Amino acid sequence: MTTTNGSSPNGTLVKDTAPQDGKPVVELRGAGKSYGNIRALHGVDLSVRPSQVTCVLGDNGAGKSTLIKIISGLHQHTEGEFLVDGEPVRFSTPREALDKGIATVYQDLATVPLMPVWRNFFLGSEMTKGPWPLRRLDIDRMKKTADEELRNMGIVLDDLDQPIGTLSGGQRQCVAIARAVYFGARVLILDEPTAALGVKQSGVVLKYIAAARDRGLGVIFITHNPHHAYMVGDHFSVLRLGTLELSAARSEITLEELTNHMAGGAELAALKHELAQVRGVDVEELPEESDLQVTPAAGGSSASDATR
Ligand SMILES: Nc1ncnc2c1ncn2[C@@H]1O[C@H](COP(=O)(O)OP(=O)(O)OP(=O)(O)O)[C@@H](O)[C@H]1O
Ligand SMILES: [Mg+2]
Repeated sequence: MTTTNGSSPNGTLVKDTAPQDGKPVVELRGAGKSYGNIRALHGVDLSVRPSQVTCVLGDNGAGKSTLIKIISGLHQHTEGEFLVDGEPVRFSTPREALDKGIATVYQDLATVPLMPVWRNFFLGSEMTKGPWPLRRLDIDRMKKTADEELRNMGIVLDDLDQPIGTLSGGQRQCVAIARAVYFGARVLILDEPTAALGVKQSGVVLKYIAAARDRGLGVIFITHNPHHAYMVGDHFSVLRLGTLELSAARSEITLEELTNHMAGGAELAALKHELAQVRGVDVEELPEESDLQVTPAAGGSSASDATR
């Protein structure tokens, strides 16, 4: 795969200009979700605006999947409000979310590995030609459209007839992103798209996240990795044990602060204490708890400004 979308010389993929503060397409206000008596999410505020990447970070069990399941129509919130275009909503199925332009790319991608790339691109929404009952698949038009749409996103594949299963994980993520853009998504939710990828492929996926944003989509990027988040993010929301621990615009936080938040100062100190009892682990190599306590910078002069 080759690309035509360039990144900035300093290697980050953020926009050259500060993001326009458009009205949120999707908004959560004090939203939460309980599964029976397990409270998985509580009091979460989140705004997703056009042409912005909102990153949701958090450790295992923090509530990231629960959050996106509410927005993508798989689960319903049990507290607070969920608004789309300023109107309160409650989706019963993912189809209802899709009808509002909210598309989700899951980690398993829901593709059929042995089917060609172009068939997967149109899976469930095939183009047809001819009148009923002679209606049949319009293969030529589907191949041509898939090729054009992938190229529009800067994705050039040698052969769209190759089974999608032969593409790399990163390439498959990119096809899924291009597909959501083509089918009119306004909000694109990506659940840990770089989790299983190496450095190079992660870079490629981050590039298409930036490309989707540049096409005007609001992107929700779920990740464990603060470095990946900071490459493309306009806003960072960190969940811990189901609540929002941090919500900061890019101008309010540096990569270092975000990384320290993810590392979790107190937890790391406890881990260090435990590891001290285990022979062969050099705890002196681990950072001190005091090094990990951070408060978000109050706007303005963070290192992030240099990347814009
Ligand atoms: N269907 C369910 N029924 C009961 N509890 C659930 C259900 N789904 C999630 N939980 C609980 O809710 C909490 C948040 O889970 P969630 O899957 O949202 O976390 P996550 O941040 O996506 O974690 P991971 O990084 O491991 O994917 C966890 O304690 C989990 O055990
Ligand atoms: Mg999850």
